[in-house]
Amino acid sequence: MNDNSDTKHTILLVDDEENILNALNRVLRREGFRIFTATSGNQALLTMDKEKITLILSDCRMPGMDGIALLAEVRKRTPDTIRMMLTGYADMETSMAAINRGEVYRFITKPWNDDELKLIIKDGIHQYELVQENRYLHELTQKQNLILKDLNSNLEQKVSERTREVEMLFKELEQNFFDVVRVFTGLMELKSPYLGGHAKRVAALSRRLAEKIGLPTDEVLNIEVAALLQDIGTLGFPDKILKKKENELDIVEKALLQQHPSLGQTALQQIKKLSDICLIIRHHHERYDGLGYPDNLRGEMIPAGSRIIAIADSLDILVNPWESHERYSVDRAIHELEKEAGKSFDPNYVYKFIELLKDVKHEVTGADSIEIDISELKEGMILASDIKTRRGLLLIANGEVMQTSHLAKIKNFQRIDPVVTKILVRSH
Ligand SMILES: [Fe+2]
Repeated sequence: MNDNSDTKHTILLVDDEENILNALNRVLRREGFRIFTATSGNQALLTMDKEKITLILSDCRMPGMDGIALLAEVRKRTPDTIRMMLTGYADMETSMAAINRGEVYRFITKPWNDDELKLIIKDGIHQYELVQENRYLHELTQKQNLILKDLNSNLEQKVSERTREVEMLFKELEQNFFDVVRVFTGLMELKSPYLGGHAKRVAALSRRLAEKIGLPTDEVLNIEVAALLQDIGTLGFPDKILKKKENELDIVEKALLQQHPSLGQTALQQIKKLSDICLIIRHHHERYDGLGYPDNLRGEMIPAGSRIIAIADSLDILVNPWESHERYSVDRAIHELEKEAGKSFDPNYVYKFIELLKDVKHEVTGADSIEIDISELKEGMILASDIKTRRGLLLIANGEVMQTSHLAKIKNFQRIDPVVTKILVRSH
């Protein structure tokens, strides 16, 4: 038995005649194959038990197990091994039958031509490689299918995990956004409870008007927030300017007051999420006829939110005035708004707002309110009048919803400047 272990493919030659084995061996060894030889069927099978054989070339007629029986057995044991038969012309019929039964890949006739023999053997080896390659690709495809299946199910899981993370982040961002708004409105209230209360009432009315006009939900929210923060630019102004009516201001005071929309915009524009809101704030004192400030915008050039806030703002100043200013009834205030349709205000929005006021009259004026003692005040009640101290300091403005912090504030003031005993709250 010869062995050349450097080669890749193994060939088993089986013949009971040594000289034929030697002749075959000589031809094929030069082609770089690893060659095994056997002189009987049984010896061949023993070799195959130990070695992985790519191709077996067996004589047909041998004592004991003949070539057909041997190749049939090889087919059973290692179906991938390429099986070839070496035959004389006399065995042609038997050999053809073996080929037809699929037991033999090809036959080679004795005597053979060396070159032809090499070609046939190489063709057989190539066939073996094709089968192996095909099997490898098939297994690879199956493996990849399994991986893909796994990836797909993981992907679904990953997508839903990622969606949940994004949702959480979005909620956090939303929460941060409302925190920012809360901080700023808190600052406003600290500066002036009147301005804080006024902003909240204007925000509620502006939201309702925006909804009635049919603006998209996002825009309605922007308008509500812009109304809450509209006068943030006045935070640094002296109180005496804020308490005066516009016609009572001197030239310097007026110029300062007219800067509050752009100051508000500047203060808030660092926060990306507030960019649309900043624009509404900048233009909340523009007039429909173009005579407002700061940019003398007119008509539809003024953002819708600014046009809405301008109307709600004016109404609240009339019906819930600062300190000693004259208080208007809702009907009288409506009359004033009507007079300004097309001048200060967008006429379409004014008429929509007047329609709206019919439904919410009690909310803007404190009508349908009841008088209670300050000691009966509880969280959640809505004020229908300002809460002031006996010395006249405004603590909590009309329209506010009572919160724990408000009750604590009243309690703190009881010791230094007690709060008036009777107040109005909304009855529903
Ligand atoms: Fe303003």
